[in-house]
Amino acid sequence: MTNPISPLPGDRFQGKKIQRRRLWGRAKGKPLSRYQAGLVADTLPRLALDRQNPLAGLGHYDNIRLEVGFGGAEHLLHRARENPDTGFIGVEPFLNGIAKALAGIEKSGLTNIQLHHGDVWQFLEAVPNASINHIDILYPDPWPKPRHYKRRLIKEDLVSEFHRILKPATPLDFASDIPSYINWALLRILKHGGFVWDAQCAADWHTPYAGWPSTRYEAKALREGRTPHYFRFMRRP
Ligand SMILES: C[S@@+](CC[C@H](N)C(=O)[O-])C[C@H]1O[C@@H](n2cnc3c(N)ncnc32)[C@H](O)[C@@H]1O
Repeated sequence: MTNPISPLPGDRFQGKKIQRRRLWGRAKGKPLSRYQAGLVADTLPRLALDRQNPLAGLGHYDNIRLEVGFGGAEHLLHRARENPDTGFIGVEPFLNGIAKALAGIEKSGLTNIQLHHGDVWQFLEAVPNASINHIDILYPDPWPKPRHYKRRLIKEDLVSEFHRILKPATPLDFASDIPSYINWALLRILKHGGFVWDAQCAADWHTPYAGWPSTRYEAKALREGRTPHYFRFMRRP
């Protein structure tokens, strides 16, 4: 299987070969069970996003929602069950997360999810302008040490790409429990100029999004005494 940690040979962004390493987290955890390994071998190829034409498998949905870094897939699976008329793209480089998503998809009989096992940058450029209805980036890896800030996923270039692919007046949801990441992300998202901080979320960022199922990472943050913060930015029309 391809190692998603490094750019794949030939990966390009805006016509240039991707040189720098964009992905820093874990790619694998404990060994997969036989059942999970079977899902990765047999089911993943059927649900895998086409990197050259990322919306091809979801073309029959009017609404498409993208979740970047879904971890254990709690939120992705919950939203897909809740919204059967929406097509979902789930992106996760961590193989064990992909296996969890596959098990959940099989258990619930979901047909509205496509997965990308790897880095969101591996297909982002091929997503058409104004084609996505909602983006979730929930608890991105915090990289709390200043010398690691450069590893953070939310950067100016990602914010620009999110702006390009979102339909006008649709949401970008970002949650975090790390104050320095919150400041970092707010600065970059608002400085872009193409997003407005949703008034309700701006007034009360301690209240989760409607129908919020929580996530594994959030549960850990709460156990460790950190405070979840929920943000919604609307792409300017
Ligand atoms: C702190 S975890 C949070 C997971 C999940 N959203 C949750 O709340 O439980 C961050 C996730 O982002 C994923 N991630 C890191 N870099 C990524 C990238 N370049 N593209 C997509 N996902 C990425 C990691 O593998 C990890 O699962």
